[in-house]
Formats: sequence, structure tokens, C-alpha cells
Amino acid sequence: MGNKKNVRNQREGKDELVQLVSNVNRADDVDLNRRAFIKATAGMSIALGLATIPFSIRAAIGMEEDDDAKEIIALDELPRGKSATFYYPEESDPALLIHTKSGELLAYNSACTHLMCPVFYESEKEELVCPCHKGYFDLKSGHPTAGPPQRELPRIDVEVRNGVVYAVGRQVRHG
Ligand code: FES
Repeated sequence: MGNKKNVRNQREGKDELVQLVSNVNRADDVDLNRRAFIKATAGMSIALGLATIPFSIRAAIGMEEDDDAKEIIALDELPRGKSATFYYPEESDPALLIHTKSGELLAYNSACTHLMCPVFYESEKEELVCPCHKGYFDLKSGHPTAGPPQRELPRIDVEVRNGVVYAVGRQVRHG
């Protein structure tokens, strides 16, 4: 009987010791995890900061990030009221850059959305015209305004960089 009690006391003593050690380890773990988290966060912040330095330098000296931009024409070669043809995004996609009379730069893929005839800029009336079946498109939006075309012309985003006009993206719209 006394022996059983001794064994039970020993077991309980051992359990308490295990519990104590476990608590100590858990407290250490929490502390270690906190420190590791702070270190990792600080490390990531520094890494991100360093990673943006080249962009900052490029921005400071006026250089643009190399992307899918495609050079169209020098702006001083395209007076107001004139247009220039180019291809974007592929060499098989004809496009038209228009320098409006008010100084805006607008660009569209120029294959008519009816039967693909080339669309022209009509500077007198400031509109886009397809001569094949007398299709008309709004200059500012590319929406069809008269004739058979039902869909807008895909719009091309342009940017002027150091006096040169670039195509930088395309919006294919429906409706
Ligand atoms: S192809 Fe342009 S109106 Fe028909």
C-alpha cells in the first residue's frame, strides 16, 4: 500500500516537473518567436527598401522602366490636325495616332470593326472615317457613330517620353 502511494507521489512529482519545464519552454518559445518575427519583418523591410532603389534612381534621372512600350513617332514630326500610321501591338495590327487640333494625342487600331478596311482621320470634322461602307467613329472615344460598324475601335494608350510618342498598352472594348 505504502509502496503504491510512493509510486503515485513520484509520478505526480514527475508530471509537475514536466509541466514546469513545458511552461518554461513555452515562454522561451514565445519570446524566441517574437524576436524571430521582429527580425524577419525588419529584414523584409530592408530588402524591400533596397529593391526599390534602382527604381528611385531611374525616376530621379528621368529614365523609364523598360516595358512593352513601342516607339511611334517624334512629337514634333506630327503637327496638330495630322495623323500617323503604325502597328501595335503586333506588326499585323495597323493603328492610327492622331494629334487633334486641340493638342490631344489619341490612338486606335485602325482596322474598321465592320469588315477591316483602314479607318482614316478626317481632320476637317475631327472624326474617324471608314471609306469602304461609310462607317464613322467618334474621335474621342472610338465608338461607332454612323454606318455599318457596331463595335468600338480598340484604343491604344500613348505616352510622350522625351519628345517621342510611345504606344504603351491597348484596351479592347466591346459594346
Ligand atoms: S469595312 Fe468599314 S464600314 Fe465596312
